This record gives sequence, structure tokens and C-alpha cells, in this order.
Amino acid sequence: MFPDLIFSGMRPTGLLHLGHYHGVLKNWIKLQSEYPCFFCVVDLHALTTHYATPDVIENNVWEVLIDWLASGIDPAQANLFIQSRVHEHVELSLLLGMSTPLGWLERVPTYKEQIEKLRDKDLSTYGFLGYPVLMSADILLYRASIVPVGEDQVPHVEMTREIARRFNYLYGREPGFQDKANEAARKLGGKRSKMYYELRSAYQQEGNGEALQQARALLQESQSLSMSDRERLFGYLEGSSKIILVEPQVLMTKASQIPGFNGKKMSKSYGNTIGLREDKVSIEKKIRTMPTDPARVYRSDPGNPDKCLVWQFHKIYTDQSTHEWVQRGCRNAGIGCLECKQPVIDRILLEQQIMLERAQKYMDDPSMLRAIVADGCDKARKLAYETMRDVREAMGLSYS
Ligand code: TRP
Repeated sequence: MFPDLIFSGMRPTGLLHLGHYHGVLKNWIKLQSEYPCFFCVVDLHALTTHYATPDVIENNVWEVLIDWLASGIDPAQANLFIQSRVHEHVELSLLLGMSTPLGWLERVPTYKEQIEKLRDKDLSTYGFLGYPVLMSADILLYRASIVPVGEDQVPHVEMTREIARRFNYLYGREPGFQDKANEAARKLGGKRSKMYYELRSAYQQEGNGEALQQARALLQESQSLSMSDRERLFGYLEGSSKIILVEPQVLMTKASQIPGFNGKKMSKSYGNTIGLREDKVSIEKKIRTMPTDPARVYRSDPGNPDKCLVWQFHKIYTDQSTHEWVQRGCRNAGIGCLECKQPVIDRILLEQQIMLERAQKYMDDPSMLRAIVADGCDKARKLAYETMRDVREAMGLSYS
């Protein structure tokens, strides 16, 4: 009924670094040519933790967008926009909050953990507790079917599925639903109708997911159905109510393999990042002073790449023959550590140069970026409008 669509978001709380690039953005770049993509700077989510320092958000919204574009997100393929500019996020979040049990929110594994971790902030707020509801609204507003996120966000997407299911259960019911569904099935025509019922019972009685997919495809293809009949039949496939909001699937993004320059995970909070648009001298310095295998005190001491941080960078940045050169040269002390670092430095600087060139365009002419975002917001609003029309109607808010 609804075509595949990707939604993902990023909080504008700081400049992006190589961890974001290798962990998230490369994946988005791959997806942008495969699906319609909505990538959103979630400034409202940033406010849940930074409500007392909104300047942080203000300073970073455009920078994050430039970082996305610099890394190769293509505005001709993906829709880029800002959450707070599409007011429906707020509206849907509030409406979903009506039926979201408090217990679900309190039990999110990251909830108490984050409050503990971010001790310097008072996060015992309504807004922070509601973080997953706002995130559900982001996703459900576009009826996104696929949500690429890191492991830490999986419980949030799971909750989105539950919120959607509950919503459909509460508001997708209509008097005489079953009769109407059967009526609609007749309109599929004899052969298709029979197939629909067979696939439906294969799914409902045996949990056959393949059958569910086939039945969905069958409905997708049938020209003879009205919108509401189609919705009924989609709903009837899985239960006894219409599908108003779509349950999304998680597309789990593998964590970035790139360590910070001091060996811990690359993260702003550890202060060990290499920025996407950092200046050359600073990058060189960070890598030159990066610790290596502690066994190599002197140039003549042999080392072991498996115990060396620089090797992790080689694995990401350099080619097979360089790998062999490193393995041999480190283990027999044929090369020094600085020598070993040079190809990594060269590759990172080359990558950055490409990013800087892409970014420069937007820095020279901010109106280009404003136009891309205005366009992204327009496209987002269009979809959001349609969903909200259905949501308002389902919740009894479309008075005439
Ligand atoms: N919570 C996500 C994070 O911190 C950001 C986010 C907000 C998001 N809304 C989303 C991610 C919707 C995916 C889909 O990374």
C-alpha cells in the first residue's frame, strides 16, 4: 500500500567526525540511490537534552547539513530537512503520546542510563521521557518502512512498531470491519480473491512471512481497489483493523570500525575525534602523535600491527600492498612508526580534500543550502500532510 521509504535522523549537537562518516553516512550514501530517503536534522531531539543551551543547536544545524553534503549525500537523490520546520512532527508526537503507556517509556533501556550518564544535565523532564514518542512520530509521519540506525537506537524503533500497532488497533477499527474486508476481497476478482484468503491463512495460522509478502504484493498490484478497500485488506491480512500507520523495520548499521586517535571509540565525549572538515595541520598532528604498539620503544624494536591503533586505520584507508608493507615492515622493524602513518595521513587528507571542496560550495553561497532544505521540507510536508489527515480523521479530530 505504501512504497518503501527510508527515514533517519541525526541530532545537531556538534560537528561530525570520521566515526559518523564510516558508521552512518557511508550507509546513507549507499541507500540514497536505492530508496526514497528522508534524512532529518532532529533539532527537537537535541532540545530534549540541550534545552538549557539552545545556542549549541543553532550553531550546529547548518554545519551538520554541510557535513552531510560534504560526505556525499546527494540532494538530488535524498530529501534533507529540519525537523522543527515541519510542524507535523510536534503534532503527531503529541497525539501519539495520548495512547503511549508511561511504562513503555520508563522501561526503555537507554532512559535511566542516559540520565545517569548525563548527570550534568537535569533530564527528569517530560520532554526527555517522551524522546521515543517524538522519534516514533518522525518515522510514522512518513510511513517509513526502513529505518537505518545503530544498535543503541534499536529499542526506539521497536517501540515505534508497538506505538503504530497500538494506534492501528485503537483507531483502525470500524464497525463491520470484517464484512467490509470480505466485500473488498470480492472486488479483487475470483482468482485473486481466493489467493488472498489462502495467503492470509498461511500467514495467520502458520506465521508464514513469505505468504504475507506475497499477499501484500498481490494487493499492491490490484488496480481495481479503492484506497480504503486496499487499506482494509492490508489490515485484514494481519489482524482486524485498518493500517493507518506503518510498522517500520530496523536496518541495523554496523558500528564504525574506526577508533578515536587515543584508542577508545571515536566520540565527541572522549575528545578523540578527527573532524570531517578539520584542517590539515591538526589532522597530521593527531595522527603523528597517535600511540603505536608500546613494544616499539626504539625504531629497531619489532612490533605487532594487531596491537597497534594505526593498523586499524590502515584497514580502513589503505590498499592490499600497503597492508603487506605494514605487516612486514612493522614485524621486522623495517619501517618506523611515522613512516607507517604517512600513507594513512595521505589517504585521510585526500578524502578530506574532496569533502572540503564539496562543502566550500555551500559555505560560499549559503542560499544554496537554504534552498536544498526548503525543498526537502516541502517534500516532507507533503507526505506529512497526508498522514496527518488520516490520523486526525481516525482520532475523531476532523470536524466539518
Ligand atoms: N535518536 C536518534 C539518535 O540519537 C536520532 C533520531 C531521531 C532518529 N529521530 C529518528 C533516528 C528517527 C532514526 C529515525 O541517533
